[in-house]
Amino acid sequence: MKTENIYLVWAHPRRDSLTAHIVDEIRRQSTSRQMKVTELDLYRRNVNPVMMQEDEPDWQDSTKRYTPDVHSLFAEMQGHDTLVVVFPVWWYSFPAILKGYLDRVWNNGLAYGDGHKLPVTKIRWVALVGGEGKSFIEMGWEKNMTDYLVNMCSYLGIEDAEVTFLFDTLSAKPEHFPLLFSQVQEMVNAL
Ligand SMILES: Cc1cc2nc3c(=O)[nH]c(=O)nc-3n(C[C@H](O)[C@H](O)[C@H](O)COP(=O)(O)O)c2cc1C
Repeated sequence: MKTENIYLVWAHPRRDSLTAHIVDEIRRQSTSRQMKVTELDLYRRNVNPVMMQEDEPDWQDSTKRYTPDVHSLFAEMQGHDTLVVVFPVWWYSFPAILKGYLDRVWNNGLAYGDGHKLPVTKIRWVALVGGEGKSFIEMGWEKNMTDYLVNMCSYLGIEDAEVTFLFDTLSAKPEHFPLLFSQVQEMVNAL
């Protein structure tokens, strides 16, 4: 089914970063194709990434109430058919604020466990990679991160999951950047 509503989650400390411009492009392209976009800018929303005891899953009780923050962030995602997550690759992984959001909000009894799943049908990850594609692929990072992200989605009940890598984000060549923008336009066009 074609995407109608996107929940766009992203992580970057700077609102003028390349990551933020990529997010803007995804929103612009989606809106121009009549998709609605709700955005969760993890940094500007001051999302707390630190899992404390109150938000720790109780494996014996999937109805556990977590902190209000967790339930309201999870509820925000509901009513969207597609989740798009944009992040810079830091140490071949997520920025801590995004990891903590996943730990706390995609929690047992909400996003998985006891028949629960993430409340979307599609997930698209957009990962900005400082290094060049060739070495990233040769070293196995593309496969490693894709397997990790796609299998995580499967655990959360979502089989339609894909990862778009935007390589060479620290490139000195200005002519490289239109390629990255066209990659995300194509990602949106295929939703
Ligand atoms: C803490 C940190 C860790 C990083 N780790 C990696 C890495 O593991 N691999 C990589 O290719 N680039 C890495 N980078 C480079 C970022 O991926 C790059 O800065 C980002 O994609 C550029 O987008 P931005 O201008 O929006 O920050 C790292 C950058 C930072 C700040």
